[in-house]
Amino acid sequence: MIQPAITGTGVFTPEQTITNDELVVAFNAYAEKFNADNAEAIAAGEVAAKAPSSSEFILNASGIEQRYVMDKSGVLDPETMHPVFAARADEAPSMMAEMALDAARKALAQAGRRAEEVDLIICAASNHERAYPAIAIEIQQLLGAGGFAFDMNVACSSATFGIQAAADMVRAGSAKCALIVNPEICSAHLEWRDRDCHFIFGDVCTATLVEPAAAAQGAHFLIRSTRCATEFSNNIRNNNGFLRRTRPGQMADRRDMQFMQEGRKVFKEVLPLVSAHIAGHMEDEGVAADDLKRLWLHQANKSMNDFIGRKVLGRVPEPEEQPNILQDYANTSSAGSIIAFAKYSDDLAPGDVGLICSFGAGYSVGSVIVERV
Ligand code: COA
Repeated sequence: MIQPAITGTGVFTPEQTITNDELVVAFNAYAEKFNADNAEAIAAGEVAAKAPSSSEFILNASGIEQRYVMDKSGVLDPETMHPVFAARADEAPSMMAEMALDAARKALAQAGRRAEEVDLIICAASNHERAYPAIAIEIQQLLGAGGFAFDMNVACSSATFGIQAAADMVRAGSAKCALIVNPEICSAHLEWRDRDCHFIFGDVCTATLVEPAAAAQGAHFLIRSTRCATEFSNNIRNNNGFLRRTRPGQMADRRDMQFMQEGRKVFKEVLPLVSAHIAGHMEDEGVAADDLKRLWLHQANKSMNDFIGRKVLGRVPEPEEQPNILQDYANTSSAGSIIAFAKYSDDLAPGDVGLICSFGAGYSVGSVIVERV
């Protein structure tokens, strides 16, 4: 049996950041203008006034301090409130492909592999820039990889589901050098005018290389086991798609075509789901809480991660046992747990065991138990 391993990871981080304070200034300017423009309707009780946002709330509710984005100016312009991206010719590389190339090259360099050795690319993300041709196939061409490539979408769990798919194919022999990339341009599907969620997301891309352990050139992580689970819920939903069921005149501003969530319900329902999933996975693999050196969790909310860490370890984890990156990156959807893994895994000793876990819309949850070699 071929033993799959993670032999390299890479992170593309956009150059532009938005701090909570900058974000709140823009949001409050927008809200003030909205209230002024709609003063009569608000006074008549026909339109609800917009309440101001605050940096204190954002930090307390989420643990987020700043986020990286692909376009800061549009998001922070109170007249625009979304990133502005120039149209590109069909011949020009897509944004997601560009982000993925950077992350992929870093992962390949870490693994000591050349691009032409890659024979499988999975572009696993919450949103894809277009329906087809697959972004993954464009990345395959730009990178100079061989084999085959396809896109997949399991929202925030896309990276771990991608790792399971790649590990299974490496195990079966249908791929030898599999690259999973997670380009997340979350800023483009977030409603920056909605106070309840305007602070949640950031942009990033991660890459993970999966190969047979026997082929690894240096330090790596055995993929001891993966587990994926799903359970339908509408509590995190995005109605964007090719079927635009609208009445005439309704197209212009459909809030449900962006990120929507019932944040409180998500919090309450996802925590037990994830804790039970991880506990079951560890028990079946004979991994006790004491055996676990590190947890790389999905990065959506600090309180959620604190809760899961306590449940899994049976005590408050030390900060180094459960590294968070969401204070710097915000929620980056599928990429979050891989950023944490890429940045905080080098120091583990041979034989150390850790667990990567993602969760989110679907609902979906994916876990990967790894061992340092
Ligand atoms: N600034 C200031 N106050 C705000 C605010 C903002 N931007 N947004 C909400 N508030 C206020 C609300 O008006 C409310 O005030 P009230 O109690 O006087 O009515 C209060 O803060 C609490 O609001 P609520 O929406 O219940 O906040 P919360 O504490 O539940 O935090 C989330 C909101 C979204 C951060 C939290 O529910 C969460 O993280 N949920 C899970 C999200 C998740 O993981 N999603 C997965 C995505 S992949």
